[in-house]
Amino acid sequence: MKRLTEFGQLEDPSFSAAVVKWQKSHGRHALPWQNTRDAYRIWLSEIMLQQTQVAAVLAYYARFLERFPTLHDLAAAPSEDVMAQWSGLGYYTRARNLHACARRVVDEYGGVFPSDPALLADLPGIGRSTAAAISAFSSGTRAAILDGNVKRVFARVFGIDEFPGVKAVEDGLWRRADALLPAEGIESYTQGLMDLGATLCTRSKPDCARCPLRERCVAYATGRTAELPVRKPKKTIPEKQAALLVVIEGGQVLLEQRAQAGIWGGLMSLPEVDGHALRGALGALTVDAVAPVAGAFGEVEAISALLPLVHVFTHYRLHIAPFQATLSRRAELAAPYLWWDLARIDSAPLPAPVKKLLLELSAPSLF
Ligand code: ADE
Repeated sequence: MKRLTEFGQLEDPSFSAAVVKWQKSHGRHALPWQNTRDAYRIWLSEIMLQQTQVAAVLAYYARFLERFPTLHDLAAAPSEDVMAQWSGLGYYTRARNLHACARRVVDEYGGVFPSDPALLADLPGIGRSTAAAISAFSSGTRAAILDGNVKRVFARVFGIDEFPGVKAVEDGLWRRADALLPAEGIESYTQGLMDLGATLCTRSKPDCARCPLRERCVAYATGRTAELPVRKPKKTIPEKQAALLVVIEGGQVLLEQRAQAGIWGGLMSLPEVDGHALRGALGALTVDAVAPVAGAFGEVEAISALLPLVHVFTHYRLHIAPFQATLSRRAELAAPYLWWDLARIDSAPLPAPVKKLLLELSAPSLF
């Protein structure tokens, strides 16, 4: 029975045909883990290549196999020896998982890697894509890979303009990867996708002139190879606002000791105007709204808005609207308030943006 795709055509045999044809004439054929069906050697290479480029893997791969020629040698080795051989390759969880995986294959499968990708993916350190690569190369099993390189190729060819790290987008990529698998020649196809991603469809400066998928590539046709795949979106941090009062009388400025908890905990700062009273856009923070607050500190002779400033904290961005109020008479004030000489403001335990503001204000010409 002919299988029909329900909406549009996810399946397209000409895609894999183009990849396979290119791989045969332009792909890589002499890497030390190629031209073998030895699952141990293939598995080892795929784990080493997960987060490391081919050029860096080559020497480690050869040394590792010299020290652990078979899966049994590896499973029987003390973990310090395994870690020592891995030393320098980085991402050491890979080495711990590798060792655990070797022991499980010996214990549970009699030392023979299963060919079913689902069983492989249940072993330590082997995800869905690595499982597919191992079973394709070691037993010709028809299963889809989707590593970072392949995601990049797909994002460009199909013009996917959403971040591939989003679960729904990644699920869609897996559906494409499955639908595009060739009926036969899975080894050349899998290797071809890897080779394309590593040698032509590179992150920067892709070599589109040589690409066998150029004619069908949405990113190429629309001049968006530099924009695709979409990069991880920067976290948007919340925006908060605060009005700060610079209350000045007789060459001194009114400071407020802040509570231990919360931002700037334990430091001194300027009196902060209650956010609730000033709800809404920063534009609504007017002299008229702030004047009554300043009035609690004494008799206000003059009040004016100063230039706003922005301070970025780890978790939010604070828009500070400072107001300067000059008093003709001080009110009686107790802790947490105190008066500080503007002339020695440099020695006050103030947060950096507040100190900067006051240093600018306390320039001798102004007072
Ligand atoms: N990256 C991941 N697997 C690879 C392989 N088999 N050959 C080349 N690069 C790879």
